[in-house]
Amino acid sequence: MVTMNRNKVVIVGTGQVGATAAFGIVTHGLCNELVLIDHFAAKALGEAHDLDDGSEFQDRHVKVRAGDYADCKDADIVVITVGRKPPANSTRLAELGFTVGLVGEVVDNVMASGFDGVIVMVSNPVDVMAWYAWKRSGLPRTQVLGTGTALDTSRLKTIIGEETGLDPRNVGGFVMGEHGDSQFTAWSTVSLGGKPFARFLADNQDRFASVSTAEIEEKTRMRGNEIVAAKGGTNFGIASTVAGIVQTILWDERRIVPVSTLLDGEYGEHDVFLGVPTELRANGANEIVELELNAEEQAKLHHSAELVRSYCEGLL
Ligand code: LAC
Repeated sequence: MVTMNRNKVVIVGTGQVGATAAFGIVTHGLCNELVLIDHFAAKALGEAHDLDDGSEFQDRHVKVRAGDYADCKDADIVVITVGRKPPANSTRLAELGFTVGLVGEVVDNVMASGFDGVIVMVSNPVDVMAWYAWKRSGLPRTQVLGTGTALDTSRLKTIIGEETGLDPRNVGGFVMGEHGDSQFTAWSTVSLGGKPFARFLADNQDRFASVSTAEIEEKTRMRGNEIVAAKGGTNFGIASTVAGIVQTILWDERRIVPVSTLLDGEYGEHDVFLGVPTELRANGANEIVELELNAEEQAKLHHSAELVRSYCEGLL
């Protein structure tokens, strides 16, 4: 049933990531109502007022306000961004001890409201946290997803754009696996202007002789860490990713995005959330696209799966 409140998004956690995601949602006019929740209520209120103050100059007025968990009851999407600023030279997996207690409490509070929408997990380590939220919430697999390797895939495209001088949007393909150090670029899926990437390079030797796929992959993997070292955290890239995922779901766009979703036999893996291309609809994560990975890529995906599963063990 379509209700008056359809198009309601809640963001839990209004640090840099949550606040910037809110700004993306507001500037794109993605929903009717955006509610911010934070452990520090004054912070959520301040961000809400600041976001709403630009309404005169936005394309569409999104009602932004600070709220509490009762607001999740009729929300279409709850975005969870709780966590701390990541330390430099660390891994996302190392955040688990800090994040897990916060995420558990948030999920319990969200579910106590009667929420039956889609959880978009952003907190790191995101694949572990998405699995944990799925288990803890009891929601169907479609209704819990993480941002996964959507940001890493965007980074790959950006870096290929930097290396070739071409628009990143000419690039197709996916970074897959863990949103972390064990991620990999599935080169067999990467194309530029419709040509397999390796072929594109070979056919344009004169222009792109210095372009190295190994270097591009490493830069993609390290981009987040580099930004953390430079400015103490990342917010714009992940916020754009969140806004894009929210739009795709709320507007039932059916875009295929490498979000972190439950593998239940796909790619030969079970009981683990990883970044794989997934069709997003109004009800969340639907069909997983099973790409024909080569043996090396398949082994890398399996390595990510084993690693992420090992961090999930003992959490419940
Ligand atoms: C990043 C954080 C979100 O990669 O993990 O920017």
